[in-house]
Amino acid sequence: MVEPDFSAYPMQDPHKPDLDDSLNVTESHDRLVREAAAVAREKRVNDGGREPVSLWLFAASAVILIAAGLALGKAGNFFDYDEYVQPGYMRDNLNEGGDEGPPPVDALKGYMAKGEKVYGKCIGCHGPDGKGGGAYPSLAGSQWVLGETDRLAMIILNGLQGPTSTGKTYGVMPAQGIGMSPTDLASVMTYIRNAFGNTKGDVVTVAMATEGIKISEGRAKAGQPLTKEELDADHAKDLPGDPLDPAAKVDPVTLNPVEEGK
Ligand code: HEC
Repeated sequence: MVEPDFSAYPMQDPHKPDLDDSLNVTESHDRLVREAAAVAREKRVNDGGREPVSLWLFAASAVILIAAGLALGKAGNFFDYDEYVQPGYMRDNLNEGGDEGPPPVDALKGYMAKGEKVYGKCIGCHGPDGKGGGAYPSLAGSQWVLGETDRLAMIILNGLQGPTSTGKTYGVMPAQGIGMSPTDLASVMTYIRNAFGNTKGDVVTVAMATEGIKISEGRAKAGQPLTKEELDADHAKDLPGDPLDPAAKVDPVTLNPVEEGK
């Protein structure tokens, strides 16, 4: 084949491109590139008006989060349930019946607290400090307060017609047993034996007080104030019943013993 002779048509000679043509080609090419890029951008903008997040960014984020999660999990119990809630706490509470009442207290403390309230019946005569005075004998240091519990229970429930423990006669103490429950009697007896400087240190239990009320009701002169003769003859003894460890736990309201560990 014979190479065509372009000498007569210099504008079509590929080896000698026209200067103007070269410029036009470059311009056209740039414009095409710009338009293509613009179209590409338009396409990437979705309906929501935001550019979709690249897949690699998702992947990288996932890797970082998983790594961080593993690191925190190992570094400490970051989300450990047991760290914030003591193990078994809820279950123990439910088993105990958590809303049954206030927490248990030491027996002597519980009896004293209740007895101090019951002593409100006596305070008008025997005084806030138990020292009596005037027409009323002192309960502080009294042999009959600190002595046999049967005798003391009879005085409280039925009253007393002198002489008193000191041999002195003040008058007549009226019966205090009306409306007095075993819990009231037990706690007020415990209270006066451990207040006003008295330090007997023991507990007159509700069970003992129940026995005392029975004995009182069985008296020939039930409800009549006792005399020293009757006290010495029939009541110079302790009420029956098992002693209660002053440090044992009791319910502060009922004064019933509470089993250990509950
Ligand atoms: C209305 C006044 C009055 C009230 C209330 C009263 N007492 Fe008395 N108490 C007396 C009098 C008076 C005597 C002395 C009686 C006598 O001389 O025979 C006495 C004596 C006693 C004794 C004997 C003391 C001794 O050493 O011989 C005891 C114990 C006692 N009272 C406890 C109590 C308790 C506990 C209460 C409350 C539950 C109470 N009293 C409520 C007036 C009262």
